[in-house]
Amino acid sequence: MSRPDSAAALRRTTIGQRLTRLFGQWGVFFRGFIEEPRMVGSIIPSSRFTVARMLGPVKWDKCDLFVEYGPGVGTFCRPVLDRLKRDGALIVIDTNPLYIDYLKRTIGDSRFHAVLGSAEDVEAIVRAHGFDHADYVLSGLPFSTLPGGVGPAIAAATHRILRPGGAFLVYQFSARARDFMAKHFRRIDSGFEPLNILPCRMFWGWKDDSDPA
Ligand SMILES: C[S@@+](CC[C@H](N)C(=O)[O-])C[C@H]1O[C@@H](n2cnc3c(N)ncnc32)[C@H](O)[C@@H]1O
Repeated sequence: MSRPDSAAALRRTTIGQRLTRLFGQWGVFFRGFIEEPRMVGSIIPSSRFTVARMLGPVKWDKCDLFVEYGPGVGTFCRPVLDRLKRDGALIVIDTNPLYIDYLKRTIGDSRFHAVLGSAEDVEAIVRAHGFDHADYVLSGLPFSTLPGGVGPAIAAATHRILRPGGAFLVYQFSARARDFMAKHFRRIDSGFEPLNILPCRMFWGWKDDSDPA
């Protein structure tokens, strides 16, 4: 007889597989949510309004390496690749193998690198791809529901891996991420996008030599 928790996990996976067949990309995203609700933190991907506003301040001609945490099913990946230089690179990092497998199957672009791992390890991942810094790092991570200590560790590692003048771009339903960012980034611009489910807060933390370490 199977244990109750493994029976529940099996039931969630079966429901998720049906949704994937029915709704394609949104089904894959929702399946990830029902299997790992605290890690995914949202039931549907970000809106095109959020994508456009978040990427607005990026200086694409100065971007050799763009890193994204928590790409999910790739809502930001195609818009980033559309704007990225021909010799630029996009590294995306997600803890969910369902999403990383989906991205590897659906995005065929030599500038695109999908890594199964945690954003906490961004420094090692960036160096393993032959870079010593990132120009921009984008995060859709649900900072409020991540395990204790993970959010602060990610904010610190992100500040270390960015070049001066680069930026940490963060969107979230709450302002929690700003608390973690503020320990490292002196200048943080803020915004709010109502046309998103749920409406979301947006932050752009600019790395400067005068920042606290
Ligand atoms: C709200 S979803 C964002 C999806 C997508 N970026 C969007 O805007 O539609 C959050 C994502 O963060 C991922 N995630 C959670 N913890 C992570 C971590 N420590 N490192 C990398 N990805 C993580 C989840 O697997 C999920 O794909």
